[in-house]
Amino acid sequence: MKQPATTHDGLEGICVADTQLSHVDGDAGVLVLRGHAIEQLATGSTSVEDVCALLWHGRLPDAGERQRMQRSLYEGRERGFALLPQLPLALGLRDAMDSLRAATAHLSEDDAAEAPALLTGAMAVFVAAHERRRCGKPPVAPSPERGQAADFLAMLHGEPVPAPIARALDTYLVTVADHGMSASTFAARVVASTNSDMVSAVVAAIGALKGPLHGGAPGPVLDMLDEIERPERARAWLSRAIDDRKRIMGMGHRVYRVRDPRAFVLERAVRELSGQARDNARLALARAVEDEATALLAERHPDRTLRANVEFFTAVLLEAVGLDRSLFTPTFAVGRVVGWCGHILEQRAKGRLIRPLSRYVGPLPAADGGA
Ligand code: COA
Repeated sequence: MKQPATTHDGLEGICVADTQLSHVDGDAGVLVLRGHAIEQLATGSTSVEDVCALLWHGRLPDAGERQRMQRSLYEGRERGFALLPQLPLALGLRDAMDSLRAATAHLSEDDAAEAPALLTGAMAVFVAAHERRRCGKPPVAPSPERGQAADFLAMLHGEPVPAPIARALDTYLVTVADHGMSASTFAARVVASTNSDMVSAVVAAIGALKGPLHGGAPGPVLDMLDEIERPERARAWLSRAIDDRKRIMGMGHRVYRVRDPRAFVLERAVRELSGQARDNARLALARAVEDEATALLAERHPDRTLRANVEFFTAVLLEAVGLDRSLFTPTFAVGRVVGWCGHILEQRAKGRLIRPLSRYVGPLPAADGGA
């Protein structure tokens, strides 16, 4: 029986696409989005709209292009909002990611050129509307006057939020916009490679992001911080968890062998949200837990560097901007959909079906042809 010689479990180390969208150097701890280091983009002055232009159209926008992108994302939010009356079942699902997946599946791609802005805008509306419903409140209509980050928070909270809060969320959304061939991006590209529509590819990506090994970690990071409570309790708590062979959420990465560069920029963004004592205490606890976890994991796994990943400080930042922890993964999706759309466009331009092999390890038919 002719068989592939080896199986690449988890596709670790296998390169499956050329991309101009983002570059991840896991040894050096570098993340570049189309020529721009993440540290330069995630400063608070680059907005989601800017990164949409960068990843979908090839460069950061000038003032007029930024305005047009803000308008396009608003129109996406407006279409998402108009759809809400048809989505009572989707919005009523208990899990916010299930709700986002179901609501997004109701979108239809009438105009392929508008699909990225439609998906990006509408997904923000769906997450906000699900949360409002969970709290027994009516949905809030989007505003053309606000950028995506500020409007997302206004739709969630029912009123505009202070500029520094919106800026911190913008920084977060920019930071997570794209990250090489993550599992969800690969899922989107596989679906796009069949010439399916962009909505279907994004729905597949949402499913992949839901898993705790990918985008589901920040909620559990906060649970862990809550349980640890005080820096001096970190070592004992973490030792016990590691002895019990539990994974420390927010630590480790398939690609990075150093601290995730996104952890640095998100930590900086949290610091800039100053004057909020609780956040600072939270940050101090997070830093203490990170340091203990890094040291303990280095002892237990001397051959594998396990450092803080993006999710660790995502948890602290999203809590600081007032999001309930059930919204952390859906908010990640609202950021990452920008990259998914970029990859789907790239995959379409490539036009090659993704169809790898598998190695059969099941029973063989009996030599006499079986019973
Ligand atoms: N806590 C404790 N141990 C960990 C760990 C963590 N966060 N991450 C990896 N390890 C251990 C594994 O148990 C394994 O140990 P073993 O060889 O004794 O079985 C070893 O380190 C290698 O792990 P492996 O599963 O090969 O790593 P991976 O590249 O497949 O995993 C992650 C990458 C991200 C899935 C993994 O680090 C993880 O589960 N992290 C926690 C979840 C998380 O934060 N996800 C968000 C990612 S952005």
